[in-house]
Amino acid sequence: MANLGAEAKAGYFATPPEQTELIANKLIFGEDEEGEKVNICDPCAGEGTALKQIAETLKKQGGEVTTFGIELEESRAQKAKEVLGYVIADGYEAIRMTNQALSLMYLNPPYQETRNKEREEVRFLRDLTDKRLQPGGLLIFVIPQYILGKCSGMLANRFEEISVYRFTDDFYPVFKQIVLFGYRKEKSSSGPKARRTRDWLKSIAESGPGVVPALDKEDEATYTVPVTDKEVELFRDGKVSIDEVKEVLGESNVFERMERMITPPEESEVRMKSPVMPLKLAHMGTAIAAGAVGGNMGNHIVTGTTSKVSEVHERTEETVARTEKMVTTVKVFSPEHGVVKLE
Ligand SMILES: C[S@@+](CC[C@H](N)C(=O)[O-])C[C@H]1O[C@@H](n2cnc3c(N)ncnc32)[C@H](O)[C@@H]1O
Repeated sequence: MANLGAEAKAGYFATPPEQTELIANKLIFGEDEEGEKVNICDPCAGEGTALKQIAETLKKQGGEVTTFGIELEESRAQKAKEVLGYVIADGYEAIRMTNQALSLMYLNPPYQETRNKEREEVRFLRDLTDKRLQPGGLLIFVIPQYILGKCSGMLANRFEEISVYRFTDDFYPVFKQIVLFGYRKEKSSSGPKARRTRDWLKSIAESGPGVVPALDKEDEATYTVPVTDKEVELFRDGKVSIDEVKEVLGESNVFERMERMITPPEESEVRMKSPVMPLKLAHMGTAIAAGAVGGNMGNHIVTGTTSKVSEVHERTEETVARTEKMVTTVKVFSPEHGVVKLE
C-alpha cells in the first residue's frame, strides 16, 4: 500500500495518478453540433497533475480542452503553471471568474476543519459549485466517505444523476475517499427526489467501503463532459495592479471632471440668465441679497443680506399682534460715498 499519509501536508494530498487514470477513463468528451470546446477547472489544483491527466484523456478523444487551475500555496501553483493553461496563485475566495462557463470541475479539497469548525469540504463545495459550472456541467468531487453526509443536502439540491465510487483497495484505507460524479442542475431544487438522493448519500457516509463500487470495478458507466460555447473571459486574482489602475484611469474622464470642479469659473461664465422682463428694484435687491449679482462692480462693492424682522403691534390693551417679515438690505461700499445702506 502506498504511503500516502506523509504527502498530506497543509491539506495537500494529490490524487494518486492511478486513481486519476481510472476517473479519467470514465469520461467521454461530449462533442455535439454546438462545438468541441471544453473548459475544465481544478479550484484547489495542487501541482496541477490531476487536471492535466484528465485534460490529456479528453484531448485524446478529440476535445479542444482549456484548463484552469487555482492554488493557494505558491510553490505548488508555480508547478501547476508548467502543466495547465491558466493558473492563479491565490485562494479561490479571491478569484473573479466568468460564471457558468465550466464543462467540468475537479474538486479534491483539503480534508480538514476550518477555524469555525466547519469542514473545508463543505465550504469548498458550497462556494465553488454555486455559479461556476454551466448547467449540465460535470462535478467530480473527491472527499472522505464519512464527510459525504455533511455535503449530502447541497449535493442533492444542486446536482442530478449522481454516482458514487471509492478509491481502489490499495488507496482507500488512508483517507477513505469516495469519488462522486454529478451534473449541475439548471436551478437548485429541493423536492422529494432531492431528499431521496440526500438520504442515499447520507447512508453511504454512515457505511463502509462495501456500499459503493471501487473505481476499478468494471461497470461500463461513462460520464459525459459537455462542450461549452462560453468563453472564460474573466479569470483573475483579487489583486489590482498599478498598471491596471493606470489603464483604467487613462480611459476615464475623472481627472477632467475633478479639474472642472476645483477650477474657479471664468468671469464670462458667471452670468445671470437674462430675465424676460426688465428687473424691478425689489427683484434687483433680492438678486443682490442672494449673491446672484453684485460683488466687486469696479469702483464700488455691492453686497446684500436678507434677515427676518419681528414686530409687535398693540391691538387692544390686552392683546398684541406679532408679525415677522423678511427684510432685504443692500449695502454699497463706495470710495466716493462711503457705505450706503439701501432697504
Ligand atoms: C487535497 S489537495 C488537492 C490537489 C489536487 N487537486 C489533486 O487532486 O491532486 C488540496 C489543495 O488545495 C489547496 N488549497 C487550500 N486552500 C485553498 C484555497 N482557499 N484556494 C485554493 N487552493 C487551496 C492546498 O494548498 C492543496 O494543494
